Amino acid sequence: MNHILKCHDIVKTDFVRGDNCYLYDKQGRRYVDLESGIWCTALGHSQPRLSQVIAAQATKLMHLGTRYPNAMVEEAALALLDIVQIRDGKCTFLSSGSEAVEFSTQTIRRVSGKDMLLTFSNSYLAAYGSAGRKQAGEWYLFDWNACPDTAHCTAEIPFEQIGGFVFEPGGSGSGFVRFPPQALVQELAGKVKQAGGLVMSNEVTAGMGRTGKWFGFQHYDIQPDIIALGKGLGNGYPVSAVVMRREVAEKLEAIGLRYAQSHQNDPLGCSVAKEVIAILQEENLVERGAKLGAYFLTGLQHLAEKHAIVKDARGRGMLLGLELHTQGVLSVEMLYHALLQRGFLVGYYPAGNILRLDPALTIEPELIDQFLDCLDTILAQLA
Ligand SMILES: Cc1ncc(COP(=O)(O)O)c(C=O)c1O
Repeated sequence: MNHILKCHDIVKTDFVRGDNCYLYDKQGRRYVDLESGIWCTALGHSQPRLSQVIAAQATKLMHLGTRYPNAMVEEAALALLDIVQIRDGKCTFLSSGSEAVEFSTQTIRRVSGKDMLLTFSNSYLAAYGSAGRKQAGEWYLFDWNACPDTAHCTAEIPFEQIGGFVFEPGGSGSGFVRFPPQALVQELAGKVKQAGGLVMSNEVTAGMGRTGKWFGFQHYDIQPDIIALGKGLGNGYPVSAVVMRREVAEKLEAIGLRYAQSHQNDPLGCSVAKEVIAILQEENLVERGAKLGAYFLTGLQHLAEKHAIVKDARGRGMLLGLELHTQGVLSVEMLYHALLQRGFLVGYYPAGNILRLDPALTIEPELIDQFLDCLDTILAQLA
């Protein structure tokens, strides 16, 4: 493994096979993936129906030039517009969550004619581009954690200058599992719209059932104009999408947005997105995730009551976090390695002293119980 560029920690390099929530290494040892890759495989690894669709579409036609979107693209678009309930809207399929967010922000700037966008300061939006940089002058960053008095804080925002509100409903920042209050989100969305701006929901992490509803914005009773999707849309295959209301799409088309990349609207990615949606619908996985997520959270909350080192257990659907007190001897990194040794993969964020869990919506309750037992034992031993 001397030829893999290190951009972040590399911990283990011998996983060879996946099956639902399990990963198997070269020695045949089984691990439980409670992070779903990076929060992508909501249907589990190597989902059989999806693997078949990928094989069939790959044999038929994987890729087409941007001038030739075919029927598969339209079918995937219709399926996606149906679940976001913007049935007369339009969408484009891209390759990553970052790209979908960046495309959305470019759309907002073009359609609103304003460069300044509003977002929460701790929202993760993209790995690159304007949404990745979040530079002053292009972004008004609002720290909702430092704002107990909503009305007073929002009074300082220059809504007239803001082209759009880029809202990330998936736990506000990749690691922290903290959800902004509904009243604040509604107020910001309402004021931005009132001033002629657009509301965009970044559903890259929160979407496709992750938070117990189809989309994160549905916890807030707001209607976005633009929705960016990724991760769960491809269940590990790199396909993402941007959906927009027809009025916004027509304005954008009239202004003219030149945007073409090699894998935009590829039939293979679109066949994956369409099948992922069908599996989620036919197997009632969003409801399943909501129920099992509540069950998982109750178990974590019991551990928080039992172990003094645990500060908080929180979550929404299958997006869960366990925060430790900073003054204890046990760090989240130690916890991560102890769990890995015992066959459980989880996320951890030292900055928030938090362990993060994003299991597949298909996880069996017995696996949740096994994990909670293991965590209980480790917390008792190490703390
Ligand atoms: C909320 C959110 N938005 C956007 C992205 C970027 O998606 P991708 O890593 O697929 O480019 C991420 C990635 O973790 C994310 O969590």
